[in-house]
Amino acid sequence: MINIAVLGYGTVGSGVVEVITTNKESIARRIGDDIRIKYVLDLREFPGSPIEDILVHDFDTIINDDEVDIVVEAMGGINPAYSFAKASLEHGKSYCTSNKELVAKYGPELLELSEKMNKNFLFEASVGGGIPIIRPLNQSLTADEIMEITGILNGTTNYILTKMSKEGLDFDTVLKEAQDLGYAERNPEADVEGYDACRKIAILTSLAYGQHVDYEDIYTEGITKISDVDFKYASKLGRVIKLFGKSKRAGDKFFAMVAPFMIDDNDPLYSVNGVLNGILVKGNVLGDVMFYGSGAGKLPTASAVVSDVVDAAKHKNTHIMQIWSSKKLELSDVGEAQSKFFVRMTGTADAKLEEVTEAFGDVQVINVENVTGEFGFVTGVMTETEFTQASEKVAGIITRIRME
Ligand code: HSE
Repeated sequence: MINIAVLGYGTVGSGVVEVITTNKESIARRIGDDIRIKYVLDLREFPGSPIEDILVHDFDTIINDDEVDIVVEAMGGINPAYSFAKASLEHGKSYCTSNKELVAKYGPELLELSEKMNKNFLFEASVGGGIPIIRPLNQSLTADEIMEITGILNGTTNYILTKMSKEGLDFDTVLKEAQDLGYAERNPEADVEGYDACRKIAILTSLAYGQHVDYEDIYTEGITKISDVDFKYASKLGRVIKLFGKSKRAGDKFFAMVAPFMIDDNDPLYSVNGVLNGILVKGNVLGDVMFYGSGAGKLPTASAVVSDVVDAAKHKNTHIMQIWSSKKLELSDVGEAQSKFFVRMTGTADAKLEEVTEAFGDVQVINVENVTGEFGFVTGVMTETEFTQASEKVAGIITRIRME
């Protein structure tokens, strides 16, 4: 019998209970042993709910119970998750979590501890919700050098950008709608400012290169400045705007960034719409491989968490190797990153083209019907630093969006 304890009975925690209850037999078959949820920890009471009899409020009950093999954490945030993770591993219990804040900050330390204890620290659900991406990076794409990872890693922002693109609505209107539907949090900052995607690309990049990427080193720009007018230009160019988490290896340099990009339909991520996520990985021998599916939500996320539980149960006394050392991966200066840029500028192209060309070199001018007092242009490929320097030579830039 494998006994588990679930920390947190919110959206994901209750999803974990539901998945294990619904698929108990097939999960047991895959593990080769029965599985039981022995405890659910939450500060709240849940009278009349199916977990009423196994609900506990004190974490010590769980760590001091030698029968508990696996602790599943679905609380989010660093505190108390970090101390719960450490205590669980120190008490010889594997720890499975969907908590990207915890994994991005303490991944290497907790992996090291799990190795020392011959247990497992698993976090499939921390990136891409129900999409398998952590296990493929650790166990499947092992013949390749990973050259590039590009992901739509945040369902909330992808929902907002998709709605803006398809319905011509402005950011505030769509955000409000997303909140009313329960997709976006009441405090949507982590999603719309790109912080959530930042932690996720930090985790993926650390696993791809085996060294720790500090998410605070990643240049991060959210979607709050994207407007309905930007989408009019995008549409004229046959493009959409997506929030990408990107990392790239160029020789011995590593780049990482979170920012909105204007992409065309040659990009495999072009059709990843709504709350769905997509992650494109480029290997040096494999080429492109794409992972696509439900990046958030109760049951998809719980499905990924339970897949970790199955793995931990199958490897009860074996540490599954995941290479992510605490040695820091030094990211190159984002100023060296290259792309084309779409730029909106006040005035008319007729009056300003000479000035623009002098600063940016040859550009492609875009005018959009019913948008007056401004025009758009697309630069050639240039570095971030070159773009900044060119921008300082001209007046009237309204906004700029990177292009792939
Ligand atoms: N807020 C996240 C999203 C949840 O919208 O993708 C999943 O990590």
